[in-house]
Amino acid sequence: MKLIINSLKVFTKGNKNNKPIIFVHGFPYNHTMWDKQIEALKDKYYCVSYDIRGLGESYIGDGQYTMEAFVWDLYSIIDELKLDKPALCGLSMGGYIALRAVTKEEKRFGSLILCDTRSEADNNEGKLKRSNAINKINVEGIEAFVDEFVPGCFHPKIKERNNEMYQRILNECKTQNPIGVKGALIAMLSRLDTTESLENISLPTLVLVGKKDALTPPKLMKELAHKIPGAKLVVVPKSGHMTPLENPNFVNSKILTFLKNLDK
Ligand code: MLT
Repeated sequence: MKLIINSLKVFTKGNKNNKPIIFVHGFPYNHTMWDKQIEALKDKYYCVSYDIRGLGESYIGDGQYTMEAFVWDLYSIIDELKLDKPALCGLSMGGYIALRAVTKEEKRFGSLILCDTRSEADNNEGKLKRSNAINKINVEGIEAFVDEFVPGCFHPKIKERNNEMYQRILNECKTQNPIGVKGALIAMLSRLDTTESLENISLPTLVLVGKKDALTPPKLMKELAHKIPGAKLVVVPKSGHMTPLENPNFVNSKILTFLKNLDK
């Protein structure tokens, strides 16, 4: 089912009476990056995904976003759909949103799945990269930015392994609205560091990272997982930063096992 909540495009699949899981996508992607997970989970779980403000089919507005506003958006969907302690699953920028949402109001959630993300805020080098990205979009356009940024998110062999999916995603990213993309860059650049709050997370947590993730490498994710009490780390083979797209069967089985164990 497709809905508009708080000017965001929200997608639901599965029986509303089943346990809910909400998926938050990465940058500069949209909700479809979770299609394979939702397909695998929809018979047992009530699956909710959405396009983050400024991306996909959600409201663009003036492009003035903050990570805090992204978190309020997530809460608004949970409230509107009356989701009872959903599992929260976020990748990269979706993970920044998930970590901030959980460290602010953990009681809203039942469990946490973090894919290819980090708790640290941008350092100076990272901020300069964001500034250069905004400049590239202004001077050369969104397509040039996507051509530069997106290939680095995938495993070096992605074109040999699944060129069709890769090209589809690349083309989808090129249709994103530049105002929304630049707004998301500023929201990431100005986000808080959530590292100190990791030790207070008491939700069952699964941490997934691609073996060849160049953006948030396994070493970094191992440190993140180590700081969250009881968190389980799984390294995803044959995958870069985009684990749910690059090795969906493996990711699906890990998520399903994690969720099934919560029911015991
Ligand atoms: C993402 O996949 O969401 C981005 O790589 C996040 C970022 O640029 O920090």
